[in-house]
Amino acid sequence: MSDPINSIIIEQVDALLFNETNTIANLSNAAALLYSETTDMNWCGFYLYDAKQDELVLGPFQGNVACMHIKNGSGVCGTAFKENKVLRVKNVHEFPGHIACDSASNSEIVLPLMVNNQPFGVLDIDSPVLDRFSAEDEATLIKFRDTLVKHIDSSVLSALN
Ligand code: SME
Repeated sequence: MSDPINSIIIEQVDALLFNETNTIANLSNAAALLYSETTDMNWCGFYLYDAKQDELVLGPFQGNVACMHIKNGSGVCGTAFKENKVLRVKNVHEFPGHIACDSASNSEIVLPLMVNNQPFGVLDIDSPVLDRFSAEDEATLIKFRDTLVKHIDSSVLSALN
């Protein structure tokens, strides 16, 4: 059984991003923090919403190279984004339409990000361990996501797309 995700990451991300307004810098360090503080994780990072194309585009991440465009509603990421709900998938091979970026991945959790009530993107985390993410991990990651979002300026999306 994997170690629980340490809730210290919530305070750490708040401190790490303090007074930094650059979104790429903030997302990059948030991904690096999560990756370094969590066991049994082979990929974590962000997909950001491009409203013009109605798709998610690869953002800052840690792990192997990954697919760069995910249509809204596709895969675990696109489904979590479209439905605006956290998806915790015990076995990705049983999820219809799962997009296999890294063949090592067996379980996944995706958290949608809303900034200023606007759809912003998702935080995607993959694990080689089946059923890696517990309900407790999900609660920790929701707080991590909510803390991170407070440091994000939504106006950056128009600059990125
Ligand atoms: N598995 C995801 C695609 C992104 S990679 O895991 C990095 C999905 O099904 O949406």
